[in-house]
Amino acid sequence: MTFTLRPLQPDDIAGCARVLAGLPEWFGRPETNAAYLDGLRSAPAFAVVDGNRQIAGFVGLRAHDPGSMEIDVMAVRRDLHRLGIGRRLVTAAIDHARHAGARWLHVKTRGPSTFDEDYESTRRFYRSVGFDPLYESQTEWGPDDAALVMVMSLDKESSNDEP
Ligand SMILES: CC(C)(COP(=O)(O)OP(=O)(O)OC[C@H]1O[C@@H](n2cnc3c(N)ncnc32)[C@H](O)[C@@H]1OP(=O)(O)O)[C@@H](O)C(=O)NCCC(=O)NCCS
Repeated sequence: MTFTLRPLQPDDIAGCARVLAGLPEWFGRPETNAAYLDGLRSAPAFAVVDGNRQIAGFVGLRAHDPGSMEIDVMAVRRDLHRLGIGRRLVTAAIDHARHAGARWLHVKTRGPSTFDEDYESTRRFYRSVGFDPLYESQTEWGPDDAALVMVMSLDKESSNDEP
């Protein structure tokens, strides 16, 4: 199947909601999902669509200050994991953040102190595409949900950039 990367459009949001609904281990809180989807309406965001123009995966960004950008939400349809779609989405995020003048890209995910296999695979993914763990907070989301902040410098060419 052919996959195409493009900026996310308002019409894509229902498809993004379906992707989140198919990943309840990561996106099991309806109010958090609604906030993520709402953020996609105004934030820079990218989608990968399949040959039927269905959403295969997406990433939404958030700018906190001019020097950095955060991956606010990202997800790939479960049946399409490990096909390189997540890497393409991160590459799009890197390119966008660089062009916007950011020097850092960061992302927050569950930390190893509240270990589970699902988030272990998420952390492996982020490490694989170039993020390093910066610190883990036991207070930001509470002691039952450690928050790991991961960061990537955008100052030099990334080895993960597509040719
Ligand atoms: C994390 C996620 C976005 C990755 O997307 P993906 O398209 O499957 O990832 P890719 O195929 O681009 O993987 C790139 C590399 O990351 C690493 N990786 C990805 N998934 C992995 C896993 N489950 N276990 C170990 N390494 C993994 C691998 O090194 C992989 O390269 P390889 O397949 O050549 O070995 C996707 O698995 C997902 O939607 N997970 C559930 C939701 C989630 O975790 N969202 C993010 C934060 S809440």
